[in-house]
Amino acid sequence: MIVNSARFVISNQSVSKCPNDHRHEYAFIGRSNVGKSSLINMLTGNKSLAKTSSTPGKTLLINHFLINDDWYIVDLPGYGFAMRGKKQREELEKMIRSYILTREEMTNLFVLIDSRHKPMKIDLEFFNWLGENGVPFAIVFTKLDKMSISAGKKNVEEYCKLLLESWEELPPIFLTSSETGKGRDELLNYIEQLNKLPLEAKPDDENS
Ligand code: GTP
Ligand code: MG
Repeated sequence: MIVNSARFVISNQSVSKCPNDHRHEYAFIGRSNVGKSSLINMLTGNKSLAKTSSTPGKTLLINHFLINDDWYIVDLPGYGFAMRGKKQREELEKMIRSYILTREEMTNLFVLIDSRHKPMKIDLEFFNWLGENGVPFAIVFTKLDKMSISAGKKNVEEYCKLLLESWEELPPIFLTSSETGKGRDELLNYIEQLNKLPLEAKPDDENS
């Protein structure tokens, strides 16, 4: 898919204030600093669209970006970062949970994992929570430019092997780098395919 236009639409704290024009949308989530906002900029070819920072906790709202006047990308705050104390973290997590569980337009959730790290409890628990709630998701490994090709491949393989110890099958997996553009075509093609499905029918619903 070619991205012809990408523009910021709205930021807010509440699912009820998200756009109501009933379009496909794709949200990006993962631990703070994993590279969500950078990936969105890479996908849209606009380095200043989503705000990025080397300090964790940059994104604190639900941010909607309209792509090709047709579908939305949603940048979400990271989870698991003890920002300004427990209360703020709990509020952010509540907002994220509410968005994920109630936003009918969310066609797929992309969960980002830093490809340099070993599997972390917080991510594994998050995956399980998504599974329990029947949320359609894919795993996006980030920052592959920070390692050799062989080391990156090995890390991802080990990660997937661990997941398969408790799962029967893997969700779609993407290997990316916001620095080099790796994975861009694959992600955009995946979204293009999902955009063809009627909004009501999420992939997980097909067999039910
Ligand atoms: P929060 O909004 O704080 O949750 O973070 P985020 O997940 O949106 O991360 P962000 O995109 O702001 O990136 C965090 C840091 O990682 C920044 O310094 C980015 O430049 C860097 N970064 C993100 N993606 C990549 C990548 O693919 N390669 C490299 N080398 N650095 C990256
Ligand atoms: Mg961010």
